[in-house]
Amino acid sequence: MQTLIVTGGAGFIGSNFVRYMLNKYPDYRIVVLDALTYAGNLDNLADVWKNPNFSFFKGDINDAALVDNLAQNADAIVNFAAESHNDRAILNPQAAVQSNFNGVWTLLEAARKFKHERFHHISTDEVYGTTDGIFREGDPLEPNQPYSAAKAGGELMVRAYHQTFGLPTIVTRGSNTFGPYHYPEKIIPLFITNLIDDQPVPVYGDGMQVRDWMYVLDHCRGIDIALHHGTPGEVYNVGGDNDRPNMEIVTLLLKFLNKPESLIRHVKDRPGHDRRYSLDVSKMGGLGYRPEKERFEERLKETVDWYVANEAWWRKIKEKQAEYQAFMNQWYAERK
Ligand code: NAD
Ligand code: DAU
Repeated sequence: MQTLIVTGGAGFIGSNFVRYMLNKYPDYRIVVLDALTYAGNLDNLADVWKNPNFSFFKGDINDAALVDNLAQNADAIVNFAAESHNDRAILNPQAAVQSNFNGVWTLLEAARKFKHERFHHISTDEVYGTTDGIFREGDPLEPNQPYSAAKAGGELMVRAYHQTFGLPTIVTRGSNTFGPYHYPEKIIPLFITNLIDDQPVPVYGDGMQVRDWMYVLDHCRGIDIALHHGTPGEVYNVGGDNDRPNMEIVTLLLKFLNKPESLIRHVKDRPGHDRRYSLDVSKMGGLGYRPEKERFEERLKETVDWYVANEAWWRKIKEKQAEYQAFMNQWYAERK
């Protein structure tokens, strides 16, 4: 593979993946296609902008003409583009359907037309729903939220293009990811940036919901391994093997920033909130993947330090982006 289209490459995981791939594969060309929605940010790509192997196109994955134009000169697509936030997709499910389902189909058509070597779809552990046990790749898909239902729909279309047209697809189902350039609406970057400013942190319900947390470079490595060594048509769980209740994350953030527990506010829960995710990553283990779970607290502290050192990056969003402020005002007004 020489030329990869990375959709959603101006977002959180996508931009980290672009940086990771340009460093690891100096002979690859990386073409980013990103609509620059509220979550897309060219600041995330500033350090790779002048790399001769990197190029950027602003556009929607639903724009078939643009997608075809790029796809005809590429070998593979890695699809990160999505409405990625559950809470936004509750307020506006249409955006999730458009990007997480319809857009996937447009990309699949192009990959089929130009006989790509790989179509790698970035999915999520949320497609399984909620569990008291552990999610394995063969488990039924029982998504509970508009975000995850649209992701499941996109993923099933990927499956259909493999089964029906023989497209060499890979699906990775990632767990909760954290690290630099994470848009400050998700729990970790929202809470870090609130705490830096001595603002309260809104914990949904009792805060005992469990997520499997993985550092963003683990996620990028997992995608790289599955992209290059996965079997076409297969689905792989990519996780951190690191289940934590939300309150444990909050306690660690308070500790790292030396802030008092009095900043915790328990607020009205997210509707349809999944109680617990947990991923079996042994199938990826068979390909040589192992998350660095023993480094979780160190990585979380590094992430806190990144937000402390990069105030300009997140203040531009929190203090100047109208879409950020409109969403925060509406969503958290409803949580009181
Ligand atoms: P993000 O919201 O930070 O970035 C999404 C990017 O996609 C943005 O740059 C945005 O501009 C772009 N985009 C959205 N709709 C688009 C469209 N129609 N056309 C072109 N570009 C579009 O998201 P993220 O957290 O980096 O997540 C990336 C992918 O990984 C998503 O598919 C998400 O479902 C999946 N995922 C995320 C996590 C996580 O914890 N963040 C975990 C598992 C899977
Ligand atoms: O599991 C993978 C998924 O992880 C990805 O598919 C999504 O793209 C990604 O956003 C993430 O989804 P979550 O809904 O788990 O992430 P979020 O950071 O929004 O919430 C994490 C947990 O924290 C969840 O139980 C809800 C809770 N939470 C979140 C926010 C924003 C709060 O208690 N308060 C908050 O203000």
